[in-house]
Amino acid sequence: MSTKHFSQKQAGQKIHKLREKIKHHEKKYYIDNDPQISDYEFDMLLKELEKLEKQFPQLITPESPTQRVGEQSISGFTSVEHDTPMLSLDNCFSFEELEDFEERIKKIVPDEKIEYVAELKIDGLGISVKYRDGNFSQGVTRGDGFRGDDVTLNVKTIRSLPLTISEPHEIEVRGEVYLPFQSFQKINQKRSENGETLFANPRNAAAGSLRLLNPKEVASRHLDVFLYSIFIKGKEQKSQWKSLQKLKELGFKINPSSRLCSSLDEVLSFWKEWSEKRDQMDYDVDGIVVKVDSTRQQNILGSTAKFPRWAISFKFPARQATTQIKDIKIQVGRTGALTPVAILEPVKLSGIIISRSTLHNEDEIRRKDIKIGDTILIERSGDVIPKVVSVMKERRTGKEVSFVFPTQCPVCQSSTFRPEGEAITRCENPSCPAKLRESLLHFSSRRAMNIEGLGEALVDMLLEKKLVKTLPDLYSLKQEDLEKLERMGSKSSQNLLDEIERSKKRDLPRLIFALGIRYAGERTAQALASRFKDLKTLSKASVEEFIQIEDVGPKVAESVVFFFNQPENIELMNKLREAGLNFSYERQAKPGELPLAGQTFVLTGTLSKFTREEASEIIENQGGTVTSSVSKKTTYVVVGESPGSKIEKAHKLGIPTLGEKEFSKLVGKD
Ligand code: IVH
Repeated sequence: MSTKHFSQKQAGQKIHKLREKIKHHEKKYYIDNDPQISDYEFDMLLKELEKLEKQFPQLITPESPTQRVGEQSISGFTSVEHDTPMLSLDNCFSFEELEDFEERIKKIVPDEKIEYVAELKIDGLGISVKYRDGNFSQGVTRGDGFRGDDVTLNVKTIRSLPLTISEPHEIEVRGEVYLPFQSFQKINQKRSENGETLFANPRNAAAGSLRLLNPKEVASRHLDVFLYSIFIKGKEQKSQWKSLQKLKELGFKINPSSRLCSSLDEVLSFWKEWSEKRDQMDYDVDGIVVKVDSTRQQNILGSTAKFPRWAISFKFPARQATTQIKDIKIQVGRTGALTPVAILEPVKLSGIIISRSTLHNEDEIRRKDIKIGDTILIERSGDVIPKVVSVMKERRTGKEVSFVFPTQCPVCQSSTFRPEGEAITRCENPSCPAKLRESLLHFSSRRAMNIEGLGEALVDMLLEKKLVKTLPDLYSLKQEDLEKLERMGSKSSQNLLDEIERSKKRDLPRLIFALGIRYAGERTAQALASRFKDLKTLSKASVEEFIQIEDVGPKVAESVVFFFNQPENIELMNKLREAGLNFSYERQAKPGELPLAGQTFVLTGTLSKFTREEASEIIENQGGTVTSSVSKKTTYVVVGESPGSKIEKAHKLGIPTLGEKEFSKLVGKD
């Protein structure tokens, strides 16, 4: 983090920018569960802001993200007030900062020996669990620190949490719910097979899981919990160390690595040890928590509005590993874009074996001065996809080889070109087999023509045996051709042909999207279909006509016009029409005849197949209305993952709810 000296004006501008940035990412992280940056990068932004505000306290405003405890909880489950706030922790990134922490303590409790408990900081979700008469009674999320969501039934599915304990007094335990890497990978694998968006990290997956409405499904996610605090009514524990022992004694799962340290140096050793060992763990650990052991001292120290003064988290650096670049390969995508990919010496990074990393484009390779044979530092910071942080030039032996970006497509050997001002190099051959391969995969994908069974392996075989040379060839495949392919019996061949036949009936927005026109995503495809109603009219429209459509800008308009002007695409259209594909958008017939006319919808939670905007557009295109709150007039509440309180209101008012599948079916997008 830089320690620049700003004038007050500069600081004011910087603070404003940082706050906006933090505000944006806080929402992404805490409310949307969809982080765009790693926790580490986020922590750094906050630290930077805190530092600046410390230098210019006159610029601190109540709205600053440094001035609040946490984010408000998303309601959806009943909101419950915590008996005592579940505070968050101040954090530090260096031993010096840890020493500052001790110094602050020693000012308040001078001349006393301070002992610490060092614990792993599990990257999960804070939870409070209550027991009455020895029985599990309630589980509440941390929420904003003051109020959380009652997720009792979901917490109850956590196998390591005892449902009865031998302690008759009313007790509350607190800890961290997390998802082991193994379970995380399984969940994402299943989501990937179903074409659903993947969770970015185990923390998000745990958060999503805790907020599922179906406890059965929660149970299948295999959440786990480590407890670290215990409050027994009328019986204060003497120290943090004793609390951990008590938890253990009562049958709670505590993290086995916690250590009682009699000095800060011992804490540092613990930190060092675990910064190296954390990659061997089956769960994400993002630092250690250092707690003053004695409860008496803790009580003297007390808390600020946000953090206890007796505890701090000492973060680990972002997850990084070093490995070697064995080769750089070029992948050719559907649009002919050439993407360099580093083939790595496989390396384990936060429990996942990494063997490839995208290098994005030619400029990125040059900017980072990446050569084949280089030892590089890679990082998985919150994201699943690792990135190359830097090249360790001091490890160069002189045998490294510079990568020359190809001037020929590695698949079809045609020339490549890189348009002025663009970073991407492309293959100029419109019928490059790589483009055909990727186009076929895109065409058959779930969100496009949804041809089940036509995945990578089959596409490769069809191309290899030259059974498909252009996209429309799919529609003239014969049973006897397919049966000749490896592992394709008569049953699976027939199934595929049935699937292909079914795809002819898909609606126009899907077909437009399936064509893979550059910049034309699902939303644009929907807008184009709604406006032109058939593919022929659409293919003859001008840039001017396109830009009149809401959400269609000049870039998209030009791309669509360009696409339909290419002779090979005109041919493609003719062939697809001859094959009997559905070129018109009948749903748009006449108002009054629209299928959802007069019906009002409310959307809650995240749908996997559509964004909220897309779902709204589909409803509106079919004559329905979308409103934001549930009332007696609501026809259906469409419920996605992690829904809000709207679902309760729907139940209260007796409004029918639709799951994603039912909704897709209703609007003909299944
Ligand atoms: S103690 C007042 N111990 O980290 C003390 N927290 O950034 C509060 N966390 O909200 C918490 N591992 O959810 C504590 N061993 C640990 C922890 C831990 C993870 C979480 C907890 C807290 C957050 C603060």
